[in-house]
Amino acid sequence: MGKFKVLDHPLIQHKLSIIRDKDCGTREFREVVNEIAELMAYEVSRDMPLEDCVIETPIAKAKMKHLAGKKVVIVPILRAGLGMVDGILELIPAAKVGHVGMYRDEKTLKPVEYFVKMPDNLASREIFIVDPMLATGGSAIMAVDALKKRGAVSIKFVCLVAAPEGVKALRKAHPDIDIFAAALDDHLNQDGYIVPGLGDAGDRLFGTK
Ligand code: URA
Repeated sequence: MGKFKVLDHPLIQHKLSIIRDKDCGTREFREVVNEIAELMAYEVSRDMPLEDCVIETPIAKAKMKHLAGKKVVIVPILRAGLGMVDGILELIPAAKVGHVGMYRDEKTLKPVEYFVKMPDNLASREIFIVDPMLATGGSAIMAVDALKKRGAVSIKFVCLVAAPEGVKALRKAHPDIDIFAAALDDHLNQDGYIVPGLGDAGDRLFGTK
């Protein structure tokens, strides 16, 4: 079973409170989402494999470690996931970026896939799917389905705010993947919003209604 981990570092909790505030404007919201994503990436990448290498320092030759080639792909679920990409790229600048486009049907609340574009050879890559909100789990499950269908085997799901319902559904559908959240909130309301949550992450990131 993959792990579910809440990354509740004080800096992350503090920054999350800033963006939960309904009076946080688009510019600050965008900046702070990226800052949280960057902090999370540090922890999400903790088990990246290392290999031995030899480095010649100005003083001596020494056996050291560097990252073993498994290349990271960041996969934002469009559109709100885009808000987390730059923050993670700050830490892992060589990562490739794939995209999965899903929209939530406003009547059924079910996700519909409309765009998938990935780098080649997904099977050899370490994939971080990112979406600020893990609500019902519907789009997360479909995104993981879409990537597995294209050969992905090593997948982590990274969100800012998770609802217990979404965590349960995603773990049931894809027990092999690790899930990381900055917070586990209380519940989903009847409109599919996380409570207390932060509202519609896409609208708040892009200043739309
Ligand atoms: N998507 C959002 O942007 N916010 C929620 O609370 C749930 C789903």
